[in-house]
Amino acid sequence: MPALPKWTPESWKSKPIQQVPTYRDSAELAEVERRLATFPPLVFAGEARKLKQSLAQVASGHAFLLQGGDCAESFAEHSANNIRDFFRVFLQMAVVMTYAGGFPVVKVGRIAGQFAKPRSSPVERKDNVELPSYRGDIVNGPEFTDEAREPDPKRQLEAYRQSAATLNLLRAFAVGGYADLERVHQWMLGFVKGSPASARYEELASRITETLAFMKACGITSENTPQLQGTSFYTSHEALLLGYEHAMTRQDSTSGDWYATSGHMIWIGDRTRQPDHAHIEYVRGIKNPIGLKCGPTLEPDALLRLIDILDPDNEPGRLTLIARFGSDKVAAHLPNLLRATKKAGRHVVWSCDPMHGNTITSANGYKTRPFERVLREVEQFFAIHRAEGTHAGGVHIEMTGQAVTECTGGSNTISETDLSDRYHTHCDPRLNADQALELAFLIAERLKEERLALATDGQVLPTIAAE
Ligand code: PEP
Ligand code: CO
Repeated sequence: MPALPKWTPESWKSKPIQQVPTYRDSAELAEVERRLATFPPLVFAGEARKLKQSLAQVASGHAFLLQGGDCAESFAEHSANNIRDFFRVFLQMAVVMTYAGGFPVVKVGRIAGQFAKPRSSPVERKDNVELPSYRGDIVNGPEFTDEAREPDPKRQLEAYRQSAATLNLLRAFAVGGYADLERVHQWMLGFVKGSPASARYEELASRITETLAFMKACGITSENTPQLQGTSFYTSHEALLLGYEHAMTRQDSTSGDWYATSGHMIWIGDRTRQPDHAHIEYVRGIKNPIGLKCGPTLEPDALLRLIDILDPDNEPGRLTLIARFGSDKVAAHLPNLLRATKKAGRHVVWSCDPMHGNTITSANGYKTRPFERVLREVEQFFAIHRAEGTHAGGVHIEMTGQAVTECTGGSNTISETDLSDRYHTHCDPRLNADQALELAFLIAERLKEERLALATDGQVLPTIAAE
């Protein structure tokens, strides 16, 4: 590939750009971006590097990535309880998977910055009224009024403030005793007891109970073992609003490299991955771990070209490819992409987003996702990797810790008529707490199979530090 022109934090500005809001007052926008550029970074370069090392373990088949959170964070629902409930479910998922897989689970939230949304149409029409589409709370408001839908630059300051407050609480939860393994396990037992499908989960749950009791008997407890008392947790979001990302881009004083300091990992959405456009130009120059959504329109050659641009040094942990095909399309598309990256010797992480290809509209008009399709896409993702001899590296899901009714199905059987009960999302439908945990148990079964298959192949997993 011919060498690309020099990258600068501004070089994206000279490229064509998709999904950009039209601000009425460009002077106000410039003033907001100028202020943001003077604010403290939300994350440090060293943390992003540490996440990259953990993702390198995923790329080599020795760890699993769990990435999840809201489709869109909202200003109205910013509360300690929401953050706590999300974190609580997320940790339970991670414990179940860690135990079954026998390797570390790298925990990355779609949180503390996941505010900007790409839309399939720039306008929304209701009863002959046409307004700009809602583009996430960092841009405009969800209410269908002229006023709310007008993009407002000041919202970026509010998004920064909310991201900082959310991250602060998450950091406290992760190391302040809340994430203690014994406690997480007790919550998980509560879920198993209350689930209509408890019989399916009991065996794994009781084996974890026995293991913890054994460790305690051997003198290994959270009082004397810091790894049991806390955990590492990282943040991520879609790098969509490039003015905001640019303002948060800082040069690392130790390496001289540029980092996005708005979150540890950022990803490029399926609608903004044109190789010669602004979003790819921006992310190619920053050193954070990067995600790339791969949908049904992405051909193997185009993927390889994007990988050349985003990861020219073939650096393990740099690039996570997030497959989001839909349960009816994954079998037709994923194998070719896997073969292409394998043949090219690319050290990428392959993760499965079983949400964005499985969205339908219910008979009563709700945007929903049948849980059974979500499970089916994950199942196929694992089966295809197994057949191709590659590592099913992770999942990327939209979920919440609340008991919402946004996706149909699951053991508590949410029907289409139930959707109206607690349909709270501002954007896409999320798995509720029970559905998210059910998914975790299913993934745990697949991870265990993978572990046993490796053991019969005579491969021994190296011992590496727990996440
Ligand atoms: C998302 O992750 O919320 C999203 C919009 O995904 P995609 O770019 O894959 O459609
Ligand atoms: Co979404």
